[in-house]
Amino acid sequence: MNIEAIKKAKEHFGGLLEEQLRRVEQIKAAGDWIDYQTLKPIIIGILGGDGIGPYIANEAQRVLEFLLKDEQKSGKVEFRIIEGLTIENRAAKMKPIPDDVLKEIRKCHVTLKGPTTTPRKGDPWPNIESCNVAMRKELDLFANVRPVRIPREGVDWMFFRENTEDLYALGSQGINVTDDLAVDFKVITTQGSERIIRMAFEYAKRRGINQVTIVTKANVIKTTDGKFLSVGQQVAREYPEINCDDWYIDIMTAKLIDPKRRNQFKVIVLPNLYGDIITDEAAEMQGGVGTAGAANIGKRYAMFEAIHGSAPRMVEEGRAQYADPASMIRGSAMLLSHIGYEERANKLEMALDICGQYEKKLVMTGRPGGATGREFCDYLMGTLQDPELKSKWQGFVTGN
Ligand code: IPM
Ligand code: MG
Repeated sequence: MNIEAIKKAKEHFGGLLEEQLRRVEQIKAAGDWIDYQTLKPIIIGILGGDGIGPYIANEAQRVLEFLLKDEQKSGKVEFRIIEGLTIENRAAKMKPIPDDVLKEIRKCHVTLKGPTTTPRKGDPWPNIESCNVAMRKELDLFANVRPVRIPREGVDWMFFRENTEDLYALGSQGINVTDDLAVDFKVITTQGSERIIRMAFEYAKRRGINQVTIVTKANVIKTTDGKFLSVGQQVAREYPEINCDDWYIDIMTAKLIDPKRRNQFKVIVLPNLYGDIITDEAAEMQGGVGTAGAANIGKRYAMFEAIHGSAPRMVEEGRAQYADPASMIRGSAMLLSHIGYEERANKLEMALDICGQYEKKLVMTGRPGGATGREFCDYLMGTLQDPELKSKWQGFVTGN
């Protein structure tokens, strides 16, 4: 028995527990939700990121500026480009988010972020923590809200993925106890579970949706997933008008591809890793991960992004301008809605559906021959100006 190795691992583990208990206290002490109504200006930071990120972020910014023209003019809204969130700079500083970049991010109220390269073992880059994961933790963006819609099938899902805990909380702090034994840690807290589950129920209540589904693997992962589920069942009691069912992640993954069953799911709340995996699956059904956006929401800050990666190969092969910006624009629609421009967000969603799923006057293939991101955006902005936008969308969705 390697007593020394076990002793070292225990000490490491002790330190992690202290850190996590401090985090629980921070959650308990968190202040109220920020009120965008009273802010002037609302500062929107734009972070290009890596690979195709700067290309698609730039297109998304054009759309946002188009929709917020008046607010920008009146000083209600201000855009700020934040440089330096590139893999080169992160590697040079050996930080998932360089300090000066984080300082600028903290000066913004919301940010729109292009995908960033996540280093992994074997890469030419140092194996630093994912910038996404670091930002979610650093700004306590505890809710990863991901909508997936297939209007013609009546599928309208809203995933509430917990964003700061689970296997992600200590994903870079596992232990190689010996050369043969590797251990990672899964962390679930009462407070962390309650706030995301409550957010899902509040969302359902506000929208008159009578179904919330909790997804775990509590039959096997009894302590942590068990806690998530029991907190969920407790919160559900406060919303008697909403049906709450619970599913295990494996069968849930299957049911999402069952055309007879899948449109019965509405609001789905789940721990971090299951949420990561299942939202990629769901996005694929909507038309690919390139079509899905996500909101990372905390009480003070919020960050909006595409759910896919930085596609460095597209840049290497000189095809970055053909990258589909729809995912970033879906993220921008969520940003608009989050800061109080619900109506414009809805219009943008409709225009995205029309251009990307129905009318398809331009087709994005990611290669020469297909449309460029810029062309797609021009098409989208033209569609946004169509006075018949809403009835056109309804016509497409209902097939009339
Ligand atoms: C996502 C991504 C990230 C995650 C990666 C890039 C770290 O897959 O936002 O879903 O796992 O959360
Ligand atoms: Mg993912």
